[in-house]
Amino acid sequence: MQVLNFIAGAWQPAGAGAGFEVRNPADETLVAEVPDSTAVDARWAADAAHAAFPAWKARTARERAQVLKRWLALIESHSEELAQLISREQGKPLAEARGEVAYAAGYVEWYAEEAVRASGEIIQPPVNSKRLMVLKEPVGVVAVITPWNFPAAMIARKIAPALAAGCTVVAKPAEDTPLTSLALVKLAEEAGLPAGVLNIVTCSRGHVADVVGVWLADARVRKISFTGSTAVGKLLARDSAATLKKLSLELGGNAPFIVFEDADIAAAVEGLMAAKFRNGGQTCVSPNRVYVHDAVHDRFVDKLAARVGALKVGPASQPDSQIGPMINARAVEKIERHVADALARGARAVTGGRRLEGNYYAPTVLTGATRDMQLSCEETFGPVVPVFRFGDEAEVLQLANDTPFGLAGYFYSNDVRRIWRVASALETGIVGINEGAVAAPSAPFGGVKESGYGREGSHWGLDEYMHTKYLCQGNLG
Ligand code: SIN
Repeated sequence: MQVLNFIAGAWQPAGAGAGFEVRNPADETLVAEVPDSTAVDARWAADAAHAAFPAWKARTARERAQVLKRWLALIESHSEELAQLISREQGKPLAEARGEVAYAAGYVEWYAEEAVRASGEIIQPPVNSKRLMVLKEPVGVVAVITPWNFPAAMIARKIAPALAAGCTVVAKPAEDTPLTSLALVKLAEEAGLPAGVLNIVTCSRGHVADVVGVWLADARVRKISFTGSTAVGKLLARDSAATLKKLSLELGGNAPFIVFEDADIAAAVEGLMAAKFRNGGQTCVSPNRVYVHDAVHDRFVDKLAARVGALKVGPASQPDSQIGPMINARAVEKIERHVADALARGARAVTGGRRLEGNYYAPTVLTGATRDMQLSCEETFGPVVPVFRFGDEAEVLQLANDTPFGLAGYFYSNDVRRIWRVASALETGIVGINEGAVAAPSAPFGGVKESGYGREGSHWGLDEYMHTKYLCQGNLG
């Protein structure tokens, strides 16, 4: 694979010639060295994307869809290599990495199909001498900034709709996991994407502000799509204000997972296992607070502890591993801090509760969680389930919504009236009802409150890359 930047259709080192290392979080071995780009590279990328925009926009939607379909076919035929690469740079077990490649391919397929359905509207005029029409047009150059937790899926679900809409792209993948993104861009090049339509630059943590700063200041960059922390999302919103860019921000969550007394407990445990332990808990939509009704609390905790205690922790190279390493030492330290704080405030570790070797943390269930604990207010982003008790619906809804975040929420109940009440009362962009696996290319993914705005996936995700142009034709007699 190419371990260089891709700008204007050419693979090239960073202008300053520097590089940085990408290490496998499982054992800190070196995976590759990639360009440590600076403002110069970011500007070249924006110049290339700007120059390529008119011709790409002028292609028919079907032509753009055909390129996406060729990209999809190449992703599918390279799926095993991509999965191995994801596991090497990000650490997730191979089965999950394979699942992620299929998930990423799903977004490319969805937007290849959706490209040809981006239609405008004819509107009833107020008088017969006028015709009122709406066109959908690509916004222009888009800057795509992606996180490390899903190195294939996150970039695919931003780039695919951008290209389908007729936008051109400058992208910066997370410094921990740039290799999968570069491999995907290489396949997009092979699929026949014209030079300059998709550009990617990699950089170390120290140069992120430089690279992204260029795009924030550049009036030709008309949109930013970012997945990451709320703190960074707010900086992007602030710093893009001078050029009033369109923004899609998929930010932090603090997902509640509620188990009511009328729930199917076995299904709730399985739903929680799927939602919480995906990617070792390093997922924005992973439940962060689990509320269990008094009447079913002990039964639920016993079943959960048995399932969590049996999870296999280990590197991706170990075929039965279910929980890989955390992305880096800082991530493990945060988990340790949250668990120590919870234990000091009266929580009990029913299983786990300790750091293992290297970047591994034991899958953990804590009971006796309370709202004064750090893990109740902040995403832990690791394999830790804090269980809170509750007594009634009004109380748990108040607790569930008592957070500035609103990405996902889950609940289990078999009472049809409660299902509609709780689904509408939860202040989140995504609600899982008797279901822990909620994401799909055809569904709108995104949050409310400080979890951000904009949606990814579905036809709403395509709309984020287009603006609405209204035409009014008069004097028609
Ligand atoms: C995320 O963690 O940001 C994305 C997870 C998903 O797509 O389900």
